[in-house]
Amino acid sequence: MDPEDTEQLAAEMRGKTVDGWGLLQIAAGTGLAAYVVWAGILMPGFHKVPLKLQVPYIPASAKQVENVMLLLEGRSGKMVDLGSGDGRIVLEAYRRGFRPAVGYELNPWLLRLSNYRAWKAGCYSKVSYCREDLWKVDLSDCFNVTVFLAPSVLQLLERKLLMELPDEARVVAGRFPLPSWPPTRVAGDGLNKAWAYDLKQVRQAWQDNTEGTSV
Ligand SMILES: C[S@@+](CC[C@H](N)C(=O)[O-])C[C@H]1O[C@@H](n2cnc3c(N)ncnc32)[C@H](O)[C@@H]1O
Repeated sequence: MDPEDTEQLAAEMRGKTVDGWGLLQIAAGTGLAAYVVWAGILMPGFHKVPLKLQVPYIPASAKQVENVMLLLEGRSGKMVDLGSGDGRIVLEAYRRGFRPAVGYELNPWLLRLSNYRAWKAGCYSKVSYCREDLWKVDLSDCFNVTVFLAPSVLQLLERKLLMELPDEARVVAGRFPLPSWPPTRVAGDGLNKAWAYDLKQVRQAWQDNTEGTSV
């Protein structure tokens, strides 16, 4: 390129500014790209779930899984992980004797990954990963429930669990505690902390509270 042409090009570039229409195009492009990443990669399968109830995938660490299992020690029967991610908690629960061990998850990529991990561990078809919205699952026969969800949805989840779970059920919450339930036991610390709640005890505390406030 001729040096004069280069200078002319540079002068033209200097003179160019992004006008309102250009800004709008950049904003729309960025918004669309963010939406495609959110809806297509991070949260596929969530189009029917209200935005405020959408919780992204953050897998439990090995220590967190260990703490959850510690709080389920000595128990047996049906175990479910609400929002099972790549299936690691369900798989570990199956290894520790829980039958059936079931994960509910909406992200189809994570369901494929869960089944692959189960197959690799020799547990394919022994554990179940169901493509279901955790808010619509009937929990009335679940005795062991694990939840690793966001604080924004936990109050609503408390209500669902309280309405549906049997008295003998234990809920183990990881990373964030259930906001108004009294824990029976706690394991670990910091980000690895997990809380266990026994439904009978929670219902008793709930009843004591309402009796106390109605006097
Ligand atoms: C923080 S991750 C925890 C994953 C896994 N339980 C673990 O501890 O490794 C929450 C998971 O819940 C899933 N999830 C969120 N809302 C859901 C819903 N309404 N129904 C089913 N799964 C849901 C997400 O896709 C994500 O994989």
